[in-house]
Amino acid sequence: MCGIIGHVGNGDAIDTLLTGLENLEYRGYDSAGVAVQNGSGIEIQKRSGRVSELKASIEDRPLRGRVGIGHTRWSTHGPPTDENAHPHTDSTEDVAVVHNGIIENYAELKERLSARGHEFTSDTDTEVIPHLIQQYVDEGYGNEAAFRRAVEELEGSYAIAVMLSGEHTLYAARQGSPLVVGVEGEEFFLASDVPAFLEYTDTVAYLEDGDVAIVDPDGVEFTDLEGDSVDRDLETVDWDPEQTGKGEYDHFMLKEIDEQPTSLAQTIEGRIDPERGAIDLEGFEPGTFEDVSSVQLIACGTSYHAALYGSLVLNAAGVSARALLANEYSVCAPPVDEETLVIAVSQSGETADTLSALRQATEEGARTLTVTNVVGSTAARQADDSVLIRAGPEIGVAATKTFSSQAVVLELLAHRLTRDVVGETPYDLESYLPALARLPQQVDDVLEESDAERIARHYRDHESYFFIGRGLGYPVALEGALKFKEITYEHAEGFASGELKHGPLALVTPKTPVFAIFTGQEDERTLKNAEEASTRGAPVVAICPDGHRATEIADAHLEIPDTEPELAGLLANVQLQLVSYHAADLLGRPIDKPRNLAKSVTVE
Ligand code: M6R
Repeated sequence: MCGIIGHVGNGDAIDTLLTGLENLEYRGYDSAGVAVQNGSGIEIQKRSGRVSELKASIEDRPLRGRVGIGHTRWSTHGPPTDENAHPHTDSTEDVAVVHNGIIENYAELKERLSARGHEFTSDTDTEVIPHLIQQYVDEGYGNEAAFRRAVEELEGSYAIAVMLSGEHTLYAARQGSPLVVGVEGEEFFLASDVPAFLEYTDTVAYLEDGDVAIVDPDGVEFTDLEGDSVDRDLETVDWDPEQTGKGEYDHFMLKEIDEQPTSLAQTIEGRIDPERGAIDLEGFEPGTFEDVSSVQLIACGTSYHAALYGSLVLNAAGVSARALLANEYSVCAPPVDEETLVIAVSQSGETADTLSALRQATEEGARTLTVTNVVGSTAARQADDSVLIRAGPEIGVAATKTFSSQAVVLELLAHRLTRDVVGETPYDLESYLPALARLPQQVDDVLEESDAERIARHYRDHESYFFIGRGLGYPVALEGALKFKEITYEHAEGFASGELKHGPLALVTPKTPVFAIFTGQEDERTLKNAEEASTRGAPVVAICPDGHRATEIADAHLEIPDTEPELAGLLANVQLQLVSYHAADLLGRPIDKPRNLAKSVTVE
C-alpha cells in the first residue's frame, strides 16, 4: 500500500525514480510524485492519477538531479488530489518527505506546529513530518539530528524517506512498514519493495523496525534511532527482473494465471517424493509439531480463503483448526496457549491486519508460523518459523498464482502437523502424491483448453454472479466470487452450496448465473443444490471433470481433469480466475489496478 523509491548515485535519479514508481504502482495508484536535488534546492513534481501522467508531465517540464525520492499513493488521509500527493514539504520546501503507513498522533503534532506558525496545505498525516523536521532545524539541530528528533515523536506505522535541501543524502526510517536498501557499486536505492529497483540490483539489505538508514554517495549506514550502529547484512534476492515485467501480456493478472504450472512446480520442488511416498518440508522434521493441540490460521482476502482451505484439510484429518479473518482477530480470537499453533498466511507478509493478529497471538503465548511469498517480509521475521510458497513475484492486485501455492503449502504442512499430532496423514499418499506431482501439468491443460472466455462473454449481461461449493469447494467458491467482484465490479457472492436454500435462493433468477464447483466430496449434494438454483431459472455453470453427472443438468461446463478431492478445487479455481479475467477484460476494467484497491494493505 503506497510505494516508496529513493536513489543516490552518480547517474540521473529521474529515470530510476520513474522506473521504480512504475514497478511499484501495484502498491497504490491514486497519485504519484518525485522530488530531486537539482543543485539549487529541492524540485518537486506530483499529481493525482497514474505514474504515466506524472511521467508525461515530467517530459514536458524535465527535472534533473542525482539524488531523489518518489512515491505512488493509495489514499488513507485525504482524497487523491494533487495537494495530497507525496512528496510533502515544509513551508520553505527545504525538507521533502515520502511516507507509507499512518502517523497516529498527526493531529496533535499538527496543532502544535500550527501554533508555531507552520501552514499546512494538504489533508494528509504525512505533512506533519517535514514541518516537524524543519522546526528542529530552525531550533538549531543539524539535519541528521533534526530527522532523528522528529522520528522519535512519530506514533503509528511508517516507512519514510527524507531529503533536505543542499545535501546529497537520504534519511530513512522504518516502524511497521517495509523498507529495503539496494546496493550496486556506487549507486544506492531505497524502496518499500524489492521489485522497485530489481532492474538495477539484486543486492539488498532489509531495515528492521526501529532502524534508521542514512544513504549518501559514500555508502549506507544503519543505526537505531539513538544513532548506535546496527548490522544489516546484504543479501541477494533470487527474483529475476523479467519475472516482474508484463512480457507479452496485456495484464499481469493473465501472466500470473498462466504462470501457475511453473509456480506450482516451484512450490513442490524437492518437497515431495511420490516414489518414496514422502513429504519433506524443509526445516520441519518429524516431531516438530508434537506439542501442538490446536491450530488457528489468520489471514485476509484471498489468503484467508487459502487459510480456510488449509483448516478444512486439518479438521478432516482430526486436528482441530480454525481459519480466522485477521482483521477480526482482536475481537474474536479464541483462547491460545503454548500448544496453539497460529499460522499467518500472507502473500506479501506485510498486511497490517495480519501482522497485528500475529503480534496478538505472540503476546498471548501462542507458537507462530508464517506462510508467505516474500523472503524477509515482516510476517516471516515476526513469526517463530516461516515457510515460503515460492510462487515468484505477484504484481497484479488480484491474487492468483499465490492462492494455489498457498493452498499447496498448507496441504504439505497439514501432512506434517497431522502426522505429529494424531499420528496420521490426511491423504492416501499412494494416490495423493502422484496427483500433486501432476498438478502443474493439469493446470497447464486447463489453461490450454479452457472455455472460460466464451462463458464470460455469454454471461456478461447478467445481474449477479453466484459461486457455490461444498467442503474444499467452499473456499474456492468464496475465492471465485472475490476475484469476480474485485476486477469486474459486478456483484458476486460465494456460498457453501447447502446454504443457498437458507436465504440466498431468494436472489436466484434467470439473471443470476451460478457457478457450481464439484471437487469429488459429496458431489451428489452439491448437484442437488445446483438443481435447486436451476429450477428457479438460474443458468448453472458446472466446474467438474468431463462425464460428471453435473454436466447433464448444467447450462455450461468448465472442465477440470480428474484428480484427488484435495486438489480438484485448485483446478476449478484456475477456471474461475480465467472467467473473472475475461469478464473484466470484456467490460474494459483496469484489471491490474482495480479501483480503490492496492496490492498490499499496510493499514488496519
Ligand atoms: O498479502 P496478503 O496475502 O496478506 O494480502 C491479503 C489480501 O489483501 C489479498 O489477498 C487481497 O484479498 C487480494 N488482492 C485479492 O485478490
